[in-house]
Amino acid sequence: MGGGGMMGNIEIRGERPPQETNSQYVSGYQQAKITCTQCHTLPHPNQHTSSEWPNVITRMETHIRTYGKSMPDKAELKSIINYYVGNAN
Ligand code: HEC
Repeated sequence: MGGGGMMGNIEIRGERPPQETNSQYVSGYQQAKITCTQCHTLPHPNQHTSSEWPNVITRMETHIRTYGKSMPDKAELKSIINYYVGNAN
């Protein structure tokens, strides 16, 4: 990260995330929208494999602490991980 306070310029590659998803992932999608867009656009689940996503999200938790953003609770984090892992390919 270069200097500067705002993180609006983080580049997230790839297509936009699905607006509608299997009903079992809806809460995770909604929570991801709230959590992840605090710093950058919502990533598409295809950007990582299902085995990579948990580590990516763990790294994001570190960013959330570093930048003092709002941290989802355990259940919310679990639903976010389920959404990304379950929709990755
Ligand atoms: C506190 C700010 C913050 C939040 C909230 C945040 N991110 Fe990030 N994200 C970053 C930063 C900073 C980078 C660039 C550095 C990096 O890749 O670690 C990044 C990069 C990424 C990337 C691109 C790099 C890669 O590994 O593919 C993905 C994907 C990503 N974030 C996913 C997420 C997801 C999913 C969430 C929500 C659960 C999230 N982020 C929430 C700060 C954040």
